[in-house]
Amino acid sequence: QLPKHVTLKEVGPRDGLQNEKTHLATADKVQLVNLLSQTGLNYIEVTSFVHPKWIPQLADAVEVLQAIKRQKDITYAALVPNMRGLERALQAEVDEVSVFMSASESHNQSNINKSINETFPILQEVVVGAKAANKNVRGYISTVIGCPYEGYIQPEKVLRVTEKLLEMGVDEISLGDTIGVGVPTQVENLLEELLKRYPAENFAMHFHDTRGTALANIVQSLEMGITKFDSALGGLGGCPYAKGASGNVATEDLLYLLDEMGIKTGVELNKVLEAALFIEQKLGKAVASKQMAIARNE
Ligand code: HMG
Ligand code: MG
Repeated sequence: QLPKHVTLKEVGPRDGLQNEKTHLATADKVQLVNLLSQTGLNYIEVTSFVHPKWIPQLADAVEVLQAIKRQKDITYAALVPNMRGLERALQAEVDEVSVFMSASESHNQSNINKSINETFPILQEVVVGAKAANKNVRGYISTVIGCPYEGYIQPEKVLRVTEKLLEMGVDEISLGDTIGVGVPTQVENLLEELLKRYPAENFAMHFHDTRGTALANIVQSLEMGITKFDSALGGLGGCPYAKGASGNVATEDLLYLLDEMGIKTGVELNKVLEAALFIEQKLGKAVASKQMAIARNE
């Protein structure tokens, strides 16, 4: 039985813009978030408080978060890798903090410069600090199906990191197919393992669409009771520290699927298309979503 309602978590301003060669002006990022705030979304990942040398595109995280026009029923979240990042995020009055790490050792090392075991205490500190400031904490796990360096990742590796993050007090886990290699049978194997131990409410799915399998993976996840999905307007996105990673599933393509399946999101497709059109103009290129391609031909 499919869920009747799902929550979309828009990661375009963060996952999308971190991977673009074009650096948007701060005011344009603010306008993008303001446009997304008019679509009916209730969760927007605005930016990330990582080291500006690692992700120069998002070096203005404090300025962006401070300048957006906030709607009271929207959670404005950001990535936070460590205590230095948490300080900056709290200064900018983030609503929710997202810590992140990988299921595979080599991606964890290339992305955050630490081994998996070295990462746990760093994230633990962030979780404690964020909770002390009354913030919810989301925990991303990357490379849950495949790693650019290690290939297929066994569900046991994801389970191990999941256990640790939930023990730390993370409120929700977002499972990332960082390089978009997964197919529905692999998603089924992974979720079967996790859902034996934890309820579906603990998880969101974060699919990159590198090989065109994201929507199929989402349908598989829906059939297994998952009700939270990350997506990015225009199908933007990718991790600069994962070779071969490209865009997230496009919010507007996911919306088309869910709308037609009769699954409610509260998000208006037309308004997401307006935001996608805005970002196309600012990036100076056509975005990769099917819905934008259709809109262009009309
Ligand atoms: P490091 O160099 O190991 O950091 O980087 P460090 O702790 O050794 O500190 C070195 C210096 O950096 C210090 O300055 C710190 O203060 C400073 P110094 O004392 O030498 O003058 N520093 C910072 N400055 C500003 N903000 C900070 C910060 N931290 C340290 N937060 C670090 C470690 C984690 C910071 C670095 O590796 C990093 O920023 N990595 C982020 C990479 C990234 O953003 N990747 C993309 C996001 S993850 C993703 O896209 C996947 C996801 O979408 C899910 C999926 O698709 O799978 C979430
Ligand atoms: Mg991602």
